[in-house]
Amino acid sequence: MIFYFTGTGNSLYAAKKIGDELGESLIDITAAMKEKSFSYTLSDDEKIGFVFPVYFYGVPSIVVDFIAELKIEQNLEAVLKPYVFGVVTCGGGMGGTPKMLEALLEKQGLPLSASFELKMASNYIMMYQPTGPDLQKKIQISTDKKLVDIITGISKNKKDDESKRKKSFLTSVAYPLYRHGRKTRLFYADEKCNGCGKCARVCPVTAITMEANKPVWTKKQCTHCTACINRCPQEAIQYGKKTLKWRRFENPILK
Ligand SMILES: Cc1cc2nc3c(=O)[nH]c(=O)nc-3n(C[C@H](O)[C@H](O)[C@H](O)COP(=O)(O)O)c2cc1C
Repeated sequence: MIFYFTGTGNSLYAAKKIGDELGESLIDITAAMKEKSFSYTLSDDEKIGFVFPVYFYGVPSIVVDFIAELKIEQNLEAVLKPYVFGVVTCGGGMGGTPKMLEALLEKQGLPLSASFELKMASNYIMMYQPTGPDLQKKIQISTDKKLVDIITGISKNKKDDESKRKKSFLTSVAYPLYRHGRKTRLFYADEKCNGCGKCARVCPVTAITMEANKPVWTKKQCTHCTACINRCPQEAIQYGKKTLKWRRFENPILK
């Protein structure tokens, strides 16, 4: 059973590869949050995985909220604790995300067995220009190689050396900026918007409402996944001024 969250498709790509290879089912955290589906029953030998992007060297707010509600039931006869893994997709590095994930899962009685970092294209368009197509193709080759190692590790129930899973300085400095930030104030649709409503449909936290054929951000904060801005077919969604000139990124799995 693999719980995944994605804004622009990278984590879906990784979750699908892992799920297909290991015969584990995929559960979309966005859909589960919208449907308030928080209870799951684990069958014998099933593993539990969490695949998501790193945000500010930590766990995206929607994943934090989902894990806080999650209830996993185990077969009464199951004696062993389930194998629990995390795969963190990132543009540069995951920082102290495993330590943060460990603490979130511990509260739900799910000890984290192993965590894996998976470098992919960068999508954080509100901060910098996303990775371009040529570099994306190069990164994809190493992503696929790393995924083979990750899948082998998970299939063999590879465990982290827990003494090395430490709190990171990067996370302690960067993550509070995300927790208290992730504002929607700077989002708007420019004149290219044709009112198709895709931004509202792909927003995982229903922060966008269509009013008079234009998106309006009705919540003060969102998860800052970039789906609205990166996945707009007209490239009409902007965040302040700098995104006017920047390319968009979407993993081909979503196209
Ligand atoms: C709000 C936000 C914060 C991010 N912070 C980091 C970061 O701290 N380190 C990093 O390497 N990548 C960071 N990224 C890049 C994403 O983690 C990376 O591109 C990821 O693979 C996107 O996954 P997705 O396509 O499944 O949404 C950030 C992206 C966003 C949108």
